[in-house]
Amino acid sequence: MRILSGIQPSGYLHLGNFFGMMQRGIRWQEKGEAFFFIADFHALTTVGDPEALRRNIREAALAFLACGLDPKRTVFFRQSAVPEVMELTWLLSTVTPVGLLERCHSYKDKLAKGIAPTHALFAYPVLMAADILLYRADIVPVGIDQKQHLEVARDLAVKFNQAFGPVFVLPKEDIEEGVATIPGIDGQKMSKSYGNTLELFGDREEFRRRVMAIRTDSTPVGEPKPVAGSVLVSLYRLVSEPQELEEFVSSMRRGGVGYATLKKELLAKLERFLAPFRERYEELKAKPHVVDEILEQGARSARAAAAPTWESARRAVGLL
Ligand code: TYM
Repeated sequence: MRILSGIQPSGYLHLGNFFGMMQRGIRWQEKGEAFFFIADFHALTTVGDPEALRRNIREAALAFLACGLDPKRTVFFRQSAVPEVMELTWLLSTVTPVGLLERCHSYKDKLAKGIAPTHALFAYPVLMAADILLYRADIVPVGIDQKQHLEVARDLAVKFNQAFGPVFVLPKEDIEEGVATIPGIDGQKMSKSYGNTLELFGDREEFRRRVMAIRTDSTPVGEPKPVAGSVLVSLYRLVSEPQELEEFVSSMRRGGVGYATLKKELLAKLERFLAPFRERYEELKAKPHVVDEILEQGARSARAAAAPTWESARRAVGLL
């Protein structure tokens, strides 16, 4: 079984990326052949500054490795290191109805946020389909925001197979209900573009400040606090033992504890949870050549894994 997923290098990675994809993706390494990549071609749709892109690629690589990606078991690479993916994007484009892309939520959301409607932004899901199909992925661990893109990937695989013969495997998304959408500090989906993230490896003081700024209601200290829909509880659940969660929730229900105290309690659990990852991050940061070598080796393996599908796609359409 082959597992594959990607992450865009668009700044510091956050708790949403970690719980929505990275942690589950890393668990899959035990069970199958895993491929993870840094979607640097995709990042070009929003990052226009070459220096920032270089920095972000390095940051994403460090973060993924610090979170437990094991390069001995897993192929870890940069998307752009396998340029065949761009060619496959073109072949898939020939069977992609424009209407299918026009219906994609993430495209409409990005336009609504004021991002210029370039062709690359529009064709984003076709490149994503090429990522998945090129490596014959069976399972794709993602957060819920990527569900529609997985549907597009399956659609295009079916259309291509119908037009040219059975070249592609149909991939399936792996979305886990409890972590499909991690909320940000304002209660909306945690996302870099909403500025509501808690970053795994960013500035510690800023992290603390953001935890203390988590959205709560105005229930007075003495009164019981609502638990349903609470961002504090949603985040606390991710980083605590069941017993600790039970105590946290019952102290909210009892009342007598203010939100500032609850936030400090959450901060302590988050810091405890992240400590080993942050330690490993600092170690790796001091050894940039190790990270470079891992990505280079990963690129070689990824390219070799991609070759048979790329060739059969070329043959199927008549280019070979
Ligand atoms: P990206 O970089 O936006 O996010 C990486 C992964 O993190 C998940 N995620 C979340 N999950 C739960 N709650 C959140 N608040 C949250 N925020 C982000 C995303 O669902 C994603 O799984 N298009 C992809 C990158 C990509 C890709 C691929 C993924 C390119 N090619 C092929 C899978 C297969 C993206 O922008 O992810």
